[in-house]
Amino acid sequence: MIHESILGLVGRTPLVRLKGPSGGAEILAKLEYMNPGGSVKDRIGLAMIEAAEKSGRLAPGGEIIEPTSGNTGVGLAIAAAVKGYKCTFVIPDKMSAEKVSLLRAFGAQVIVTPAGVGPDDPRSDISVARRLAAERGGFMPFQYDNPENPGAHYRTTGPEIWTETGGKVDILVAGMGTGGTLSGTARYLKERNPAMRAVAVDTVGSILADRRAGKEGEAKFYLVEGIGMDFVPKNVDFSLTDEIVTVSDRDAFAEARRLARGEGIFAGGSAGAAVFAARGVAARAGPGRTVVVILPDRGERYLSKFYSDGWLEGKGLA
Ligand SMILES: Cc1ncc(COP(=O)(O)O)c(C=O)c1O
Repeated sequence: MIHESILGLVGRTPLVRLKGPSGGAEILAKLEYMNPGGSVKDRIGLAMIEAAEKSGRLAPGGEIIEPTSGNTGVGLAIAAAVKGYKCTFVIPDKMSAEKVSLLRAFGAQVIVTPAGVGPDDPRSDISVARRLAAERGGFMPFQYDNPENPGAHYRTTGPEIWTETGGKVDILVAGMGTGGTLSGTARYLKERNPAMRAVAVDTVGSILADRRAGKEGEAKFYLVEGIGMDFVPKNVDFSLTDEIVTVSDRDAFAEARRLARGEGIFAGGSAGAAVFAARGVAARAGPGRTVVVILPDRGERYLSKFYSDGWLEGKGLA
């Protein structure tokens, strides 16, 4: 089959059975890192751009400006390259050097801002992107609020999982950053089977789990990239979240490294967190049930980080 552009390769990612806990549910990993840009965010990049084209918010030759932990930038950059838009991405400095280089390789301008200053601080990635978009008349998709983010997962990720499992999915496990993956996928699967349970994966240091429990929560620094938040984005929908599991940096990185060595699956730290959570969920669910876990991005993006023994030792996580 010949595709008209790289965009034809977005989605339809494979499901792979993991070695689950003995006596537990089966765990199927949805390998979103098989998308052409190496992450789940290819799905939303295209969707947010196409919606903006339709509504007239993005004119031919226009500029896209987005705060991103990197992957949404790649998803947007791929679609922008095909469609002829300029891109500027604002990325917090805790994200890997590989992600910054990758965005530049797609021709984007990349601005690095301090991590952990809070979304309303004028130095934050969100504030800087907002200011630039206003100054330059650029289009900011804003994945945190944009309904096309969960919408893309409702239209594609959810139906794929339903079809690939023949409707046999009891529990969905997915990391939560903007909330788009979990909200869109869970909404679709719950419509097909209201008994399907959705488990969100958060990090130690994020406020999402606390906020769902009705507590204020205090944002603290953590190392896993892409999940956890210091505010609650509009695309986080706690009404679709049956449970939140909080995973530490140590457990997330150890599980990602184990996946590479034990199963040949080379994925990012948020995938490690999600699989770590999924193993606990599967052990509790018991045999005969099926857990689907989303693996958001590729391991190459973290070679200088938790896949490096020296880096892990330096962080006290070896
Ligand atoms: C590596 C990684 N994992 C997980 C997520 C979380 O997905 P979502 O924003 O759909 O909640 C992101 C989002 O940026 C990510 O980059």
